[in-house]
Amino acid sequence: MKLWGGRFTKPTNRLVEEVNASISFDQELAEEDIQGSIAHVTMLGSCGIITPDEAGKITAGLENILAKIRAGEIRFSVEHEDIHMNIEKLLLDEIGPLGGKLHTGRSRNDQVAVDMHLYVRKQTVELVRLLVQLQQVIIEQAEQHMDTILPGYTHLQRAQPVRLAHHLLAYASMFERDIERLIDSYKRVNTCPLGAGALAGTTFPVDRDMVAKHLGFDRIYDNSMDAVSDRDYLVEFLSVCSLIMVHLSRLSEELILWSSEEFNYIVLDDAFCTGSSMMPQKKNPDIPELIRGKTGRVFGHLTALLTTLKALPLTYNKDLQEDKEGVFDTVKTLSSALSLMAPILQTMKVNRVQMRKNAESGFASATDLADYLVNKGMPFREAHEVVGKLVLYCIEQEKQFSDCSLDELKSFSALIEQDLYQKINCEQVVEARKSFGGTAKTQVMQTLKQKKKNINET
Ligand code: ARG
Repeated sequence: MKLWGGRFTKPTNRLVEEVNASISFDQELAEEDIQGSIAHVTMLGSCGIITPDEAGKITAGLENILAKIRAGEIRFSVEHEDIHMNIEKLLLDEIGPLGGKLHTGRSRNDQVAVDMHLYVRKQTVELVRLLVQLQQVIIEQAEQHMDTILPGYTHLQRAQPVRLAHHLLAYASMFERDIERLIDSYKRVNTCPLGAGALAGTTFPVDRDMVAKHLGFDRIYDNSMDAVSDRDYLVEFLSVCSLIMVHLSRLSEELILWSSEEFNYIVLDDAFCTGSSMMPQKKNPDIPELIRGKTGRVFGHLTALLTTLKALPLTYNKDLQEDKEGVFDTVKTLSSALSLMAPILQTMKVNRVQMRKNAESGFASATDLADYLVNKGMPFREAHEVVGKLVLYCIEQEKQFSDCSLDELKSFSALIEQDLYQKINCEQVVEARKSFGGTAKTQVMQTLKQKKKNINET
């Protein structure tokens, strides 16, 4: 017997039952559903809509059900469609017809909305925790590699040398913005839809603020139609999660490149790599590859939800049931990616010698050579040309700048003196970038300090 069976004369088609049911995935919301129901029924009791004694009995029944669910004693049924009706049916079995009073002044439309708000709120807090944990590892590694110098790249070509700390802290800045975005979206997540009823509100004298307060919401939806049909906060959540995946994916790509023999900058710990079934020598960076790969599926969930919402008329439509699996899968995917990235970074071995070697070759100090000429009065455009010619000469001669004699250098510009060698030394090149946010030690140290402070205040 369906909970809504009154106006029906035939049983539901079996395939319809299967397609319509969401219990296979929305059982993820069991805790939130019971939490929301307890808040609702407590309010019904306080407002005299049911007696306080009835509210107490229903609450006790719901608590028993929650305990049984936690103990793994409950098997949900497809026949009862979703988590909301499964729990209501369990309540009827637990305390008898009194259980039927729980749904007074409520619809599954505001019920499912409150469940999702509670779920996303919990996951937002957890994701911030995981991001902070990752930030701590990035900061630790940056501290250890303040004096490790590697080439910075543009177009994946060696550009100018940088501190590894500076490179790593660029990711800390990305994740810091992600934390800010999650915190900002929290305002909209922490808004209570309960009391909106099916769409238009309810005839019972409910106290929506009381329910919101009970559940720890900061505010309530001011329009019942919006309350039941709003999924903006889920789009925002998926979009923030997509950006976090973008950042993790870019970092993964660098770990993959850097751990290749071609780069030879890092060695990933054995515990985070796998082997090949055929080639005995292989050690593959599968986890960064999977993080990079799974980024696509999170984008897919965002696109799917946007597409579901586009052109949906007000208010609730069953299409909205499609919001859940993508959100649940995103949480699972992102949480494990963040949980893995931290120890991968923490345990990787850095090949400082190779990084330094590459930073010193490949003319990464060419800009500094041009700046040197500018400081001696030459217009920058002219200096650029002179150094370009010198680079060409060095490539032909298979030399670095520092291998050239002073006379050789002077043949490109008479302005070049002995002090140039010091100016194009790798350390000096890095140290010379003292502009705010640059790669000089004082700047990197300052950023590091600021990041630590921000983390402690999160
Ligand atoms: N399982 C449904 C969902 O996830 C719950 C709301 C059902 N509401 C309705 N009017 N059929 O969206």
